[in-house]
Amino acid sequence: MPATSYNQLTLYRRVLLQARPYWLHLLGTLVLSLVSTALALLAPLPMKLAVDSVIGSQPIPGFLRPLAPRAGSGTPLLLFVVGVLLAITLLRQVQGVVSGVLYTYTSEALLQDFRAKLFQHVQRLSLSYHDNKGISDSSYRIQYDSPCVQALTLGSILPMVTSSVTLVGMIFVIARMDWQLALVALGVSPFLFALSRIFRRPLRRRWKEVKKLDSSAISVVNETLSAIRVVKAFGRETHEHDRFLDQSRRRIARLVRITFLQGGFDMLVGLTTAAGTSAALFIGVTHVRSGVLTLGGLLVTMSYLAQLYSPLSSLSKLVTDRQSALASAERVFALFDELPEVVERPHARPLLRAGGGIAFRDVHFSYDGNSSILHGISFEIPPGTRVGISGETGAGKTTLVSLLMRFYDPTAGRILLDGVDLRDYKLTDLRKQFALVLQEPVLFSASIAQNIAYARPGATENEIVEAAKLANANDFIVRLPKGYQTLVGERGMRLSGGERQRVSLARAFLKDAPILLLDEPTSSVDVKTEAGIMEAIDRLIQGRTAVMIAHRLSTLDICDMRIEIDDGRIIRPPATFEYDGVRSVDPEGRLIGEGNTFPAKNMLPAS
Ligand SMILES: Nc1ncnc2c1ncn2[C@@H]1O[C@H](COP(=O)(O)OP(=O)(O)O)[C@@H](O)[C@H]1O
Ligand SMILES: [Mg+2]
Repeated sequence: MPATSYNQLTLYRRVLLQARPYWLHLLGTLVLSLVSTALALLAPLPMKLAVDSVIGSQPIPGFLRPLAPRAGSGTPLLLFVVGVLLAITLLRQVQGVVSGVLYTYTSEALLQDFRAKLFQHVQRLSLSYHDNKGISDSSYRIQYDSPCVQALTLGSILPMVTSSVTLVGMIFVIARMDWQLALVALGVSPFLFALSRIFRRPLRRRWKEVKKLDSSAISVVNETLSAIRVVKAFGRETHEHDRFLDQSRRRIARLVRITFLQGGFDMLVGLTTAAGTSAALFIGVTHVRSGVLTLGGLLVTMSYLAQLYSPLSSLSKLVTDRQSALASAERVFALFDELPEVVERPHARPLLRAGGGIAFRDVHFSYDGNSSILHGISFEIPPGTRVGISGETGAGKTTLVSLLMRFYDPTAGRILLDGVDLRDYKLTDLRKQFALVLQEPVLFSASIAQNIAYARPGATENEIVEAAKLANANDFIVRLPKGYQTLVGERGMRLSGGERQRVSLARAFLKDAPILLLDEPTSSVDVKTEAGIMEAIDRLIQGRTAVMIAHRLSTLDICDMRIEIDDGRIIRPPATFEYDGVRSVDPEGRLIGEGNTFPAKNMLPAS
C-alpha cells in the first residue's frame, strides 16, 4: 500500500474529479440550497413587519411596497403580512421537496458510480495484493468507505458554500440595520474556526483507526464463516468469538474517545456562540432603548443570530464530521492508487488462438521480492505436447502455472508463448488461451448450468450439456432433482469434491482453449472418482497443449514429456540438456527442448 497520508486538499480534489460526471446535478443542488438560503433570510420578515409596521408605525420596507400598494395599514396590512408568511412557507416547502429528490438521486448515483469504479479497479489488482490484504479489507473499503464521495461533496463542499453565502447574507442584512451588532455577531467566528482546526487532526486519526478495526472485525467474521468446517472441527468457535470481541472492544474504546472529543468540541462551539448571542442581546437591547434599532430589527437580528450561528457552527462542525469521511477517502484512494502489478503494455498484441508453444527462459520469481521461489527455470514445450510436472509440495509447481497465466510476472527471465513474450500480448487475449483446472475447483453460488457457462457466457443449453457429457458430469447432474438448474450453494459446497471437479472440467471443455493447465486435478478425490476424471481429462487434452501437475506420478503416464522440479529448480531432465534444433528427446525418449522458439501461429498482426 502506498504511503497513506494524503492532505485534505488532495482528497477534495480527487473526490471532485470523481464527481465530475454529475457536475450539473451538483450545481442544481447548490442553486436550490442557495434559494433555500434566500428563503431563510426572508423567514423573519413577517415578524418584523407585524411588529414594526402593523403594531408600530414604521413604513413597510421599500422592496415590498409595490406588492402591497393598497394594503394601507391596520387589518388589511396584517392580512398582507400573513399572506407573505404563507407564501414564504409554501416556497420553502416546495424547495424542500424538489431539492430532496435531486439530492437523493445525485448522492446515490454518485456513490454507485464510485463504488462500481472501485470494484472494477479491485478486480484488476494483482493476486499478490489480494493474497496480502485479504478480501475483507477490500470489501469494507468498497462497501463502507466509498460513501465518503457523498459526504465530501453533497455533505461537505455544498453546505460549506451555502453556509458561507448565508453567513454573508445575514451579516449584510444585520449590518444594514445596525453595523455594531453585525460586528459583535461576526466576532465569534475566528474562535470557531480556531476550534475546528484544533480538533481536526486528532479526530481524523481516531476515525482512521476505527475504520481499520471495523474492517478487521469483519474480516474475522468472513474468515471464520468461510472456513466454518475447520473452525467447528477444531472446536475453535470460542477462540474466533474472542478474536472478534477483541477487535470490537478496541473499536468501542476508540469510538468513545471520538465522541468525547466531539462532545468537547460541540460544547466549546456552543459556549462561543452563546457568548456571541449574549453580547448581541446586550447591545441590541441598549440600541433599541436609545432608538438606534427598532424592536422588529432586534427580533430579526436575534432570529438571524440563532440561524447565523447554525451555519457558523455547522461550518466548523462540518470540519470535524468531515474527518470521518476524509479518513474513508484516504482508505479508498489508497486502494485506487494500488497499481495492478501485471500491466498491459501499450499497443499489446491481440491474439486470437495460440498455437500452444511455451518456453520458459531462465525464469526467476519471488512473491515478496526477498525469498526466491523459482531459480532459473528453463524449458520448452512444443505445441500440442502434454507435459507432466511433478515435484514435492512447495516446489513451485503452482507458481509456474500462475506465471504462465500472468497472474504474476517473473522477477527475471522471460516466458514465451508461440515465441512472443507473454507481456507483449493483450492480457484478456492471453488468458483466453488457457483453461485452468485447479485442485480445489471454485464454483459460484449459482446453478450448475450457470457455473459451466462461466467459461463462455452465452453458451447454449446444448453446448453446456455437451461439455458436461465430455466431462463425465452429465450422469450425476441429471440425477439431481433439479438437474442443470440445481443450485450448488456458496463455493459449490452442496456438491462433493469429485462432482465439483467434473463441473470445472465441463467448464474447461466449454472454454475450448488451446492450452490446458491442470494443477493436481485429482489429488483430492478417491481412486474411483479419479479414474472417471482422468478419462475426461484424456478426452480434454486431445489436440491441445497441456501442462499437468501431479503428485501421483501414475497420473502423468499420459504425458509426452516430464519435468520434475525441486525447490524451484528443474532436476529432471538436467537443465544443461543440448538442444539440436528439432524436437529433442532425453535419453529415456521423452521430449524436451532448450533455446528454441516456435513460429507464432494464427496470430493477428500487432496493431
Ligand atoms: N501467494 C503466495 N505468496 C507468498 N508465497 C507463496 C504464495 N504462494 C506460494 N508461495 C510459496 O511459494 C512456494 C511454492 O509454492 P507453490 O508453487 O504453490 O508450490 P507447489 O504448487 O509446488 O506445491 C512455497 O514455498 C509457498 O510457500
Ligand atoms: Mg500447488
